[in-house]
Amino acid sequence: MSTNTVDNSRKVTTHRLTEMKHRGEKISMLTAYDFSSARIIDEAGMDVILVGDSASNVMAGNVTTLPITLDQMIYHAKSVMKAVKRALVVVDLPFGSYQGNSKEALASAIRIMKESHAEAVKMEGGAEIRESVERILSAGIPVMGHLGLTPQSINKFGTYNVRAKEEAEAKKLIDDARLLEEIGCFAIVIEKVPAKLAAKVAEELTIPIIGIGAGGGVDGQVLVMHDMLGINKGFSPRFLRRYANLAGVMTDAVQNYIRDVKSGGFPTAEESY
Ligand code: KIV
Repeated sequence: MSTNTVDNSRKVTTHRLTEMKHRGEKISMLTAYDFSSARIIDEAGMDVILVGDSASNVMAGNVTTLPITLDQMIYHAKSVMKAVKRALVVVDLPFGSYQGNSKEALASAIRIMKESHAEAVKMEGGAEIRESVERILSAGIPVMGHLGLTPQSINKFGTYNVRAKEEAEAKKLIDDARLLEEIGCFAIVIEKVPAKLAAKVAEELTIPIIGIGAGGGVDGQVLVMHDMLGINKGFSPRFLRRYANLAGVMTDAVQNYIRDVKSGGFPTAEESY
């Protein structure tokens, strides 16, 4: 194989993401929380699978990401890891598992790595969590940052509106991104900020910037699986492109099944022993 040829069967690593950025190849990232979905997503060729704390919303039905526990994140991560062969699997450290102190943060990250066999963790915040990020990195655990709209801080922000529109917040985001790169994060998710700001960060930093609602000038995109597949019908922000209407497909299938059961049309003789 020539050095210019992209090998899609090769395991994705944190180093490979940096190589992708440097050769201008966009990085695809999507959430997964269970074995069956993770297998489909991995076999489809996704670069990064995020076991996101959005599981709190789309799997558990909570209004925010705050209630999900470390044990629950590990349960989801273990299920995903059993399915994935190629993608890099990143797991969110949930709210309350790393903000207290860096020792607790490291213990949480170690539990995720040891019990799920995932390959990296993601953490929300910049300068305020520096010590925790550094301590986790010092144990050889790759860390992905998360800046801009950080859903674990919803009670501080009060809304899920676009972040960093004002100069002071934009400056803090740039400073935080520089800091996360400097201390050794391998990538940063930037959520719901003006496209121009995200592009500026992606241009300046050497590590990949993965956007969600952050425009096309970044190094890759991430979406929540239930949103992009149209399972989650009640969430329609401007940044979301729906690639399917699985809610519709599932409703039709379930209604057809109900009809067949009620009419006695299922099962037939061929479907019986
Ligand atoms: O939990 C999650 O799904 C995330 C993405 C929105 C980036 O953090």
